[in-house]
Amino acid sequence: MKILLLGPPGSGKGTQAGLLSKKYYIPHISMGGLLRDEVGRDSVTGKKIEKVMNAGRLIPNEIVGDVLKKRLSEEDCKRGFVLDGFPRNLEQAKILDFEFDVAISMELDDDIAVDRMARRRQCKGCGKIFAEGTKCDECRSELYQRDDDKPKAIKQRLKVYHDETRPIIEHYGKKRILKTVDASQSVENVFADITKQL
Ligand code: AP5
Ligand code: MG
Repeated sequence: MKILLLGPPGSGKGTQAGLLSKKYYIPHISMGGLLRDEVGRDSVTGKKIEKVMNAGRLIPNEIVGDVLKKRLSEEDCKRGFVLDGFPRNLEQAKILDFEFDVAISMELDDDIAVDRMARRRQCKGCGKIFAEGTKCDECRSELYQRDDDKPKAIKQRLKVYHDETRPIIEHYGKKRILKTVDASQSVENVFADITKQL
């Protein structure tokens, strides 16, 4: 099963992808996560990515495409995967057109998204996402705040979403694989709605 999660920053793509990955035994491929791993490697590419990401803008398509293709070619992706954060513009959707079984659009108003991002914390060790807190309940590592979860970057990320990413949802509608869920509900209810659609 190849599942694609679409939605604005803060809509819960990462949270739901984590749950789907556990339920269906498929890897969660987070485009943002892969790019943050690259930043952590301190490479030349990583330095380039860090600057653009912290400003809330999109990383160039060639870099994103290379990083994603490499990850998707790994053995654990053969049986399927849940992908979040790609594609983000029409060029990415067309040039790197993977065949998905289902594309889920997670609908959320900007004001709720802003509030969630401002409070979000993530685990330094295993990457688990939390709505708040200081320590991971699974691996006990410390939680941190993402550098792009600052007001200026949040505003820019939402603008990029509305200008560039939102229009590509129609692309999946035309392919007849698009489903929509109300992402303002509780994590459990959003998850139930998504699994009903699969
Ligand atoms: P990425 O890491 O993908 O960030 P994003 O799209 O901005 O999405 P977020 O990760 O912020 O939100 P989410 O939807 O995953 O929500 P989450 O589950 O964490 O991308 C970051 C950057 O990388 C981009 O800005 C760009 O620079 C670059 N990039 C990535 N992909 C790219 C591409 N394809 N091309 C070019 N550049 C790219 O939840 C948010 C918070 O809400 C959490 O605290 C969570 O606990 C809480 N929460 C979740 N669900 C609920 C709920 N139902 N009720 C209450 N709280 C909830
Ligand atoms: Mg995410």
